[in-house]
Amino acid sequence: MATKVIKGGTVVTADLTYAADVKIENGVIVEIGPNLSGDETLDATGCYIMPGGIDPHTHLEMPFMGTYSADNFDSGTRAALAGGTTMVVDFALPSPNQSLLEALQMWDNKSSMAHCDYSFHMAITWWGEQVFNEMETVVREKGINTFKHFMAYKGALMVQDDEMFASFQRCAELGAMPMVHAENGDVVADLSAKLLAEGNNGPEAHAYSRPTQVEGEATNRAIMIADMAGVPLYVVHTSCEEAHEAIRRARQAGKRVYGEPLIQHLTLDESEYMNKDWDHAARRVMSPPFRNKQHQDSLWAGLASGSLQVVATDHCAFTTDQKRYGVGDFTKIPNGTGGLEDRMPMLWTYGVNTGRLTMNEFVAVTSTNIAKIMNVYPKKGAVLVGADADLVVWDPEKTKTISASSQQSAIDYNVFEGKTVKGLPRFTLSRGRVALVDGEIKPAQGHGKFVKREPYPAVSKALSTWKELTAPRKVERSGIPASGV
Ligand code: URP
Ligand code: ZN
Ligand code: ZN
Ligand code: ZN
Repeated sequence: MATKVIKGGTVVTADLTYAADVKIENGVIVEIGPNLSGDETLDATGCYIMPGGIDPHTHLEMPFMGTYSADNFDSGTRAALAGGTTMVVDFALPSPNQSLLEALQMWDNKSSMAHCDYSFHMAITWWGEQVFNEMETVVREKGINTFKHFMAYKGALMVQDDEMFASFQRCAELGAMPMVHAENGDVVADLSAKLLAEGNNGPEAHAYSRPTQVEGEATNRAIMIADMAGVPLYVVHTSCEEAHEAIRRARQAGKRVYGEPLIQHLTLDESEYMNKDWDHAARRVMSPPFRNKQHQDSLWAGLASGSLQVVATDHCAFTTDQKRYGVGDFTKIPNGTGGLEDRMPMLWTYGVNTGRLTMNEFVAVTSTNIAKIMNVYPKKGAVLVGADADLVVWDPEKTKTISASSQQSAIDYNVFEGKTVKGLPRFTLSRGRVALVDGEIKPAQGHGKFVKREPYPAVSKALSTWKELTAPRKVERSGIPASGV
């Protein structure tokens, strides 16, 4: 088997920075050290050799709000590789009353086009005995250890607190981890109806209908329900101080809670919704909406201090035509934005180049922390002998101006249009295969493989041990008085 050597670069991991060459054979890293040689050489002079990015939150070709998200596993994983991301974790989304296993089969079919590795979360969109039973198969046989719960999208995907508590307890039994989209869906529905009744029907009303309190309240509620169920909790798209504060407080109290800011919330703010151009504003409609600078500062601080652990995209791209379903009624604008191609360059530019993050913190929040939380470390998220050669050779001097005209995504705009980034991949490697050279994608549909994720033995042992120790116990008493009746 031919060998490849990445030569002349500096290895940057979540905890180390050192000069070394990296040798690859059969898709895995076989040697790291000075003066290596192989059949093929990739020049990394002036570059950082880092674990490829992992995006823990994407929605590719997902049925949602009367349409399908426009990027599928072909364009979506090309976009990922173009930006240095080598694995995505997508959400299998059963429609209400649909079998989890049937939904998974649909996702299996769609993902055969993937150019890079991928895994799935399972969404719990309804509750019943069938879901309870199938969750076991999903974990034990299908290699999925995370279950997403929508606390918003009332009348569609939203689950109630009793359903969430039941599902979280089931996760505890199976050693799986629940995730939440934390927004109070009842309040959002009420505020939306009120805004519409007042004639507030433009995309800016989407932001008004989802103030930070709806997110803070739901985040705190989910954290407390998870604590009562004895499970860790992963909060997706944490966008504001109120949600961050709930996560921070929970972590300080010893709860295993993880928070996931998106690159969009870190770098774009609520003023986007005030744009006079309806299309401009509608293209940025997502849940939660973009927030103000104070909330952005809170998210950046959380990443630096460790109270927030990962940066994702929630890539759920809709074309302008699809967004226009909501002309005259903002509640019909499909919710979602793209970002897969831009997450790493944007985070480097606005994080590392500004001094908000170190290079090592960048690797942690784009890859290593995610691999650990998703339980695929060190197969993914590591530059170690034996790890998959999912790598990015990062050129900190390379610049470009983001433009929809040159992106891999299938949509006709980019929410980061016109932003100049400095720091881009020179090479992206997917299991040792060179998938990007200096901005040019080398496509290989079907190269991507499903990555199985086992349940969490350590965390679930710790939490179930603690639950057992602190479980309610009947007090045995002698001499109980006669009933007073
Ligand atoms: O607006 C969003 N975030 N769309 C994608 C679905 C979700 O809520 O994650
Ligand atoms: Zn969501
Ligand atoms: Zn515009
Ligand atoms: Zn999402």
